[in-house]
Amino acid sequence: MNWVARQFAGAHCQPVMLGVSWIETEVKKKTMESNLVKKDFKIRNGKPSDHARIVSVMQNWWNGRDLTAMLPKLFLIHFRETTFIVERGNELIGFLVGFLSQSRRNEGYIHFVGVHPGFRNDGIGTFLYERFFELCRKQSRTIIRACTSPVNKGSIEFHIKMGFQIEPGNGEMDGFFVMLDYNRPGDPKVLFTRILS
Ligand SMILES: CC(C)(COP(=O)(O)OP(=O)(O)OC[C@H]1O[C@@H](n2cnc3c(N)ncnc32)[C@H](O)[C@@H]1OP(=O)(O)O)[C@@H](O)C(=O)NCCC(=O)NCCS
Repeated sequence: MNWVARQFAGAHCQPVMLGVSWIETEVKKKTMESNLVKKDFKIRNGKPSDHARIVSVMQNWWNGRDLTAMLPKLFLIHFRETTFIVERGNELIGFLVGFLSQSRRNEGYIHFVGVHPGFRNDGIGTFLYERFFELCRKQSRTIIRACTSPVNKGSIEFHIKMGFQIEPGNGEMDGFFVMLDYNRPGDPKVLFTRILS
């Protein structure tokens, strides 16, 4: 698939999501949840004491990139209901930190998601996203946003697989639209949007 096709890959699937695909998604969600339970994984909301555990693994999980400054403890204090933790015993298996936008009343935002490198490609990231989508649907939040750095190709692929579209930006890097100087000069971001059906 060329890069233009890839950036719009999620778009054309959306109407289909209303029918059979919706049922498939529901079945997949239930199956995934029961698979996690079978493996003794527990799923719960985040709490402030999770912060230290999360930041202690981030550099390793993000391939040596230190993004801990972007996840201050306030997220685990003020956004507990929209934060999910997957763990086995004391071992952190995955997390999703999100929130419901105060300013855009129909939007939810996924700020960080991470899955233990030893448990990737097994649907845990999908499960965490589906959990967040479900919560957003219940709150009438039908637009989900997220962003990532263009260097994080794995994250870009994952978001495309999760049905996100890449927003047209003001630049292009490695074949993907980016918003240049997003948080500060020299800090481009790939911005994702998914409309929930
Ligand atoms: C991105 C991440 C959360 C995905 O978690 P995961 O549990 O491995 O994802 P899933 O198993 O649910 O994968 C869902 C789909 O995305 C695809 N995918 C996941 N990671 C991918 C990668 N690195 N490259 C290409 N495709 C990927 C899977 O193949 C799967 O596709 P399929 O449905 O066709 O099988 C995980 O790789 C991670 O923690 N990465 C480091 C942290 C990070 O970059 N977070 C995102 C930015 S905040």
